[in-house]
Amino acid sequence: MHYGADYYPEHWPEERWETDAQLMQAANLNVVRVAEFAWSKLEPAEGCYDFAWLDKAIEILNRHNIQVIIGTPTATPPKWLIDKHPDILPVDADGHVRGFGSRCHYCSTNKTYHWYSDLIVGQLAEHYGHHPGVIGWQTDNEFGCHSTTRCYCDSCQKAFHQWLQRKYGTLEALNQAWGTVFWSQIYTSWDQVIIPRKTVASHNPGLLLDFYRFSSDMKVEYQARQIRILRQHAENQFITHNLMGLFPEIDYYKLCADLDFISWDNYPRGGGAPDSTRLALSHDLMRGIRKQNFWVMEEQSGPSGWELVGSMPRPGEIRLWTYQAVSRGADGIVYFRWRTCRFGTEEYWHGILDHDGRPRRRYQEVQQTGEELKQLWPLLQGTQVKNEVAMLYSYDQLWALQIQPNNPNLNYIAIAKEYYTRFHELNIGVDLINHADDFSEYKILIAPLLYLMTPELVGKLTQFVQAGGILITTFRSGVKDWNNAVTEKTLPGELSELMGIEIEEYDSIYGDAPIGITMELEGQELEGNACTWSDVIVPRTAQVLAKYSTEYYAGKAAVTQNAFDKGEAIYVGTRLDADLTSRLIDYVLVKAGVAHGALAETGIETAIREKDGMRLLFLLNHEPNTQTAVLPNDYVDVLTETPMTGKIELEPYEVKVLREA
Ligand code: GLA
Ligand code: ZN
Repeated sequence: MHYGADYYPEHWPEERWETDAQLMQAANLNVVRVAEFAWSKLEPAEGCYDFAWLDKAIEILNRHNIQVIIGTPTATPPKWLIDKHPDILPVDADGHVRGFGSRCHYCSTNKTYHWYSDLIVGQLAEHYGHHPGVIGWQTDNEFGCHSTTRCYCDSCQKAFHQWLQRKYGTLEALNQAWGTVFWSQIYTSWDQVIIPRKTVASHNPGLLLDFYRFSSDMKVEYQARQIRILRQHAENQFITHNLMGLFPEIDYYKLCADLDFISWDNYPRGGGAPDSTRLALSHDLMRGIRKQNFWVMEEQSGPSGWELVGSMPRPGEIRLWTYQAVSRGADGIVYFRWRTCRFGTEEYWHGILDHDGRPRRRYQEVQQTGEELKQLWPLLQGTQVKNEVAMLYSYDQLWALQIQPNNPNLNYIAIAKEYYTRFHELNIGVDLINHADDFSEYKILIAPLLYLMTPELVGKLTQFVQAGGILITTFRSGVKDWNNAVTEKTLPGELSELMGIEIEEYDSIYGDAPIGITMELEGQELEGNACTWSDVIVPRTAQVLAKYSTEYYAGKAAVTQNAFDKGEAIYVGTRLDADLTSRLIDYVLVKAGVAHGALAETGIETAIREKDGMRLLFLLNHEPNTQTAVLPNDYVDVLTETPMTGKIELEPYEVKVLREA
């Protein structure tokens, strides 16, 4: 297994490199990522490349059996380049230039930048593309970090015009799609089309959604330049990018299509206690994007911190986070960072070692975890996470609802997470997938907030249900077309037939007082609450699962279920409280015949990796107190080879890896 650290040899005197490599090797590290911010050291003046220092660092690392991943340094264009071509700098929505002095200060459509970026990437690829000690590449660093996905410069405006021409073909089609007749915005030539800088009031939602898509596409296209160059020289080295989990600005399905695998940066603990559900959700998205195992390229190994210092990872937490990642599909773990830097913006972003470079508790934890993973790898290698439940996660829906949240409390990720939470409590794995993916392998599909709809998507959802799947969708579904204009059909628009309902009217809910809900599932009546939104549903062919019990729509349907061919289509017209959401999911699980995961609802997170009938069960205690549970089968603790049955106890942050006996 690949196990390592993010290393910045350029931050330390050369005399220290040997010590670092020795300490790394002793900690069981076998890989480092280097150089992703080192442009001004690699090309101190235009065309003057200096790779000697990096050669030397790599040579030392390789000597200690540590392989290297090189990050292309394009997130930090050097000062000489910015001074020579200041138009490379990105521009914000106010029209202000975002200047030199931090990072990510480039516009990804800028032609001059492309030229220089191609050069430095090409030079590195040529130099290291066949280096036996270099195993792979990371493109740039965290594309879109610090709100840099969307740039409002003139170059981007031109690129936007070209993107729109490719998409719409004619200006008439664009005017039609966006409804530019509203507020006298009809465009009569392509170059009139604006880029959405600050205006007096809000922009056209059609334009904004296309701008979000365009901006995401520009990152994808910019990365494609790097990938093309790297592949020319580095046929036997992998290419990845370090994503940011639930980061919402770039369509990660597109960004990752041409990578060899996904990696991502995981920082569970900032100021307070980590949210294990959110972490699990992030891992599941990172695996779901390509339906493939992934790496963590930056795993927290100390307190975070720039101006403020985050809280210290509790003893056991680094190991816990590592195993959580592994249990959900990580095949590589790289800790950020090897040693805490003495200078620069991230002086307090702690690594495995502190500023003084002396190994302590966190180093020992990394060392022990590495020892264990080495032992586990023969079993772990080639195993995968397999799930019966999927959740649709779409950047188009997310963006459209960011542009128009409909209600101040409506947040796409938050609502997706509310559904995910029950599965997580029950230790039932969920794959987060795209609308273009194959749904047919799943028994249950959770598809919250299908705000934008296409005939193709309706077709896929219908097929899924017809074939026996259970679909859950929610309020604000089928509302708009893919260009972000509202349908003229009665809601839920194209979904009406599948859902067997019509929506008579809706109420956006303000204030803190929730509305009442009465749910009836399998003859059992439950009282609860809902908030944010109520669709007043008129069932056509659907049966009613829940009704409103307060407001002027008391007695009207709030949740419905439509038997459609072999499957069921459930429409949740409001935002149910956690308990009702859980009950509804429990009901659906029974219907679909999906079993609870091991140790469900015990406070112990579990996940399974499997291969050819061999199943590895990971047990994780995310809590600062001991958890006990009863094992459902006979197991063997893989790390200690001890048989395990019956009652089990997990110390705070403890992890166990079990094999079915
Ligand atoms: C991100 C970046 C790293 C570093 C860390 C800590 O994940 O990729 O370069 O900045 O955050 O701030
Ligand atoms: Zn730009």
